[in-house]
Amino acid sequence: MYAITGITGKVGGVVAQSLLQAGQPVRAVVRDPAKGQAWASRGCEVALADMNDVPALTQAFMGAEAVFVLLPPHFDPSPGFTETHHLVASLRSVLLAARPQRVVCISTVGAQAQQQNLLSQLGLLEQGLGDLPLAVTFLRPAWFMENAAWDVAPARESGVIPSFLQPLDRAIPMVATADVGRTAAELLQTSWTGHRVVELEGPQRYSPNDIAACLARLLRTGVRAEAVPRQTWQACFSAQGMKNPEPRMRMLDGFNEGWLCFEHTARKGTVELEAVLQSLM
Ligand SMILES: NC(=O)c1ccc[n+]([C@@H]2O[C@H](COP(=O)([O-])OP(=O)(O)OC[C@H]3O[C@@H](n4cnc5c(N)ncnc54)[C@H](OP(=O)(O)O)[C@@H]3O)[C@@H](O)[C@H]2O)c1
Repeated sequence: MYAITGITGKVGGVVAQSLLQAGQPVRAVVRDPAKGQAWASRGCEVALADMNDVPALTQAFMGAEAVFVLLPPHFDPSPGFTETHHLVASLRSVLLAARPQRVVCISTVGAQAQQQNLLSQLGLLEQGLGDLPLAVTFLRPAWFMENAAWDVAPARESGVIPSFLQPLDRAIPMVATADVGRTAAELLQTSWTGHRVVELEGPQRYSPNDIAACLARLLRTGVRAEAVPRQTWQACFSAQGMKNPEPRMRMLDGFNEGWLCFEHTARKGTVELEAVLQSLM
């Protein structure tokens, strides 16, 4: 049995679908029973657990051969990442109690960075689970191509996509969530011992200008990327309702300055940006 968290999201959904296609038994770990029904109808067991609920999550992982762990995304964390520290401590005790044979955790490109930024949450996850006496793989994907979902409406409406990634012609590693989910499913089905890191990017790197050009092709209209000046970010994110924009701004700095990067040679997925943008439209 493979217990899958985040199954109602982009990556977890692909992980579960890939395992089902391979004929593996899947337990869908959901926090909303209504969302479990779709997975029950595909033949999955369903377990109800919020990631913060230690007894329920332990029960959901109990008896599973392998588990897929996805830290819920948190774009506006408290200073000091209080929620992440709490969640990682909970996950640790859950995994120690349930003792699955294998664990695959979604981490991120740049999880090893020393500078504090939004991705430090995944660094804390790696550190917090890094000494468990279990076989643990941290899968570190690149920037998700699906982040370009934010660009589709402005491209359509104004032909300009505002970009926090700068300079506009600088390509960075990106990957489709379909590649991430398929890779996680493949890793869950292999055996290994101890802890390892697997890094993953798409077949090629893309810049904001590449995203604009691709959207222009698909929409058959002019689209260009425009850099959002660094000095306006704080006000811009605060206006969006963020209470603590600093980690997000530092993450963007990290990509722009190059210190959020892979530590080793990354594996390559197969899904191109154009296919992802097409599906987002
Ligand atoms: N975006 C990027 O560029 C990028 C790059 C590298 C790594 N990552 C990492 O990838 C992960 C995001 O993956 P994704 O895009 O597949 O996420 P997603 O589509 O936003 O889905 C999030 C999932 O987490 C579940 N969830 C949220 N809060 C929960 C809670 N308290 N208890 C239980 N489940 C909860 C959601 O369930 P509900 O349906 O109930 O809400 C949903 O299944 C994050 O860990 C992120 O840090 C992202």
